Amino acid sequence: MRSVYIETYGCQMNLADTELLFGHLGSHGYRRTDDPAGADVILLNTCAIRERAEERVVGRLGDLVRYKAHRPEVQLGVTGCMAQHLRDTLMTRLPFVDFIVGPDAYRRLPELLGNGAGDPQVDVRLDRDETYADLVPQRERGVRAWLTIMRGCDKFCTFCVVPYVRGRERSLPAAAILAQVRQLAADGFREVVYLGQTVNAYRDGDVDFGALLRQTNAIGGIERIRFTSPHPSDMTASVIAAMASCEKVCPQLHLPLQSGSDRVLARMERGYTAAAYLDLVERLRRAIPGIALTTDIIVGFPGEDEADFLATCVLMRSVRYDSAFMFKYSARSGTKAFKWPETVSEEEKSRRLQAIIALQEEQSVAINHALIGATTEVLVEGPARRHEGWLAGKTPQFKTAVFPANGASPGELASVRITEATAHTLVCAAA
Ligand code: SAH
Ligand code: SF4
Ligand code: F3S
Repeated sequence: MRSVYIETYGCQMNLADTELLFGHLGSHGYRRTDDPAGADVILLNTCAIRERAEERVVGRLGDLVRYKAHRPEVQLGVTGCMAQHLRDTLMTRLPFVDFIVGPDAYRRLPELLGNGAGDPQVDVRLDRDETYADLVPQRERGVRAWLTIMRGCDKFCTFCVVPYVRGRERSLPAAAILAQVRQLAADGFREVVYLGQTVNAYRDGDVDFGALLRQTNAIGGIERIRFTSPHPSDMTASVIAAMASCEKVCPQLHLPLQSGSDRVLARMERGYTAAAYLDLVERLRRAIPGIALTTDIIVGFPGEDEADFLATCVLMRSVRYDSAFMFKYSARSGTKAFKWPETVSEEEKSRRLQAIIALQEEQSVAINHALIGATTEVLVEGPARRHEGWLAGKTPQFKTAVFPANGASPGELASVRITEATAHTLVCAAA
């Protein structure tokens, strides 16, 4: 049996795609290995979202090619978003790469691998119908399963490469998703996380995302339901009502903001204003008390001046996010904004980034400190990493909690009392 090693970069959807690749290659006689040194096939499942992500992969390919020096039959390939985005550069700059396969061509991977050495095999065709609904992923064992329910994106935010590398938006049939969730419950998973670049744009005929949540809520054995990333513009009344009424849907939402300035939001073509976003936050907090909100923010978008940046800070203060992912703008070829002159220097981007990181840290600590003394329910995942003899898991709000081992096993819900808190971890005692 030939062995395959896969290294994954980028978002949860890419991690889920790696599980899909292991499953698909597994059914064609490939065995998974965690050691690149012994692997017959080495794959990098890549991300193209920022320049840095691509540089890392180019560097890593340079390392991995040494395995081919010893064993020329080893096949080295690039899959995922960067395969799609940089196919020409990859072929010219890294001629030792044997195959380049985009996110919609994974079905053909066993065939391409079978063709053996020779010229690089390339398949980067986008396919507006491909959902891989019938492929069975080989998942990591655990309590939480990730399940991609829609692929692609039709939003075309002006900074973003995703619509170009992942293609048009398409949803899996609801029946296929619900059947997979039932199987996940039978396999011992306790939590399911629905994935999609605009996951709440999900639609299969009459079944919108709210309806899908309601139907998932009825599946026995699954205790918790989450999803990421929803787009603010698709956060309909139906979705909010489903979140509020389904007891298994966790009180937690990652709601990417990008900027708090209307001028910047318009140039990003995000489809909402700061006021509309704040109104949505208010409706969410009213419908789902205690909901934790997290976000993504970009600083240094072309044209962002000090007033725009301050508007982002103001919005962060008024929402009070539980946590945030914050990025410096990175120009991506193929996008609309790529053609616009960059007006914010690298140093200024760094200054703005550091400023919002500090602001967010302060707010995360304050929010988590206010939880001290409260009890919460943790879905136990396994041993804590930094506390010997402790267990770790997530609260309903998706915060990491650690507590002294009390005999609970992974997959059980433990009731704990929060005794200490940092920006990123809740330290707890038995309730
Ligand atoms: N579909 C999600 C975002 C997916 S990409 C949404 O629309 O909210 C994850 C995050 O990467 C984005 O939210 C954005 O903050 C960041 N990002 C995307 N393109 C970027 C770019 N060109 N430069 C810097 N950050 C970027
Ligand atoms: Fe990119 Fe915008 Fe689509 Fe998110 S919604 S993936 S930011 S184009
Ligand atoms: Fe990166 Fe592709 Fe995800 S660009 S963020 S791996 S969809």
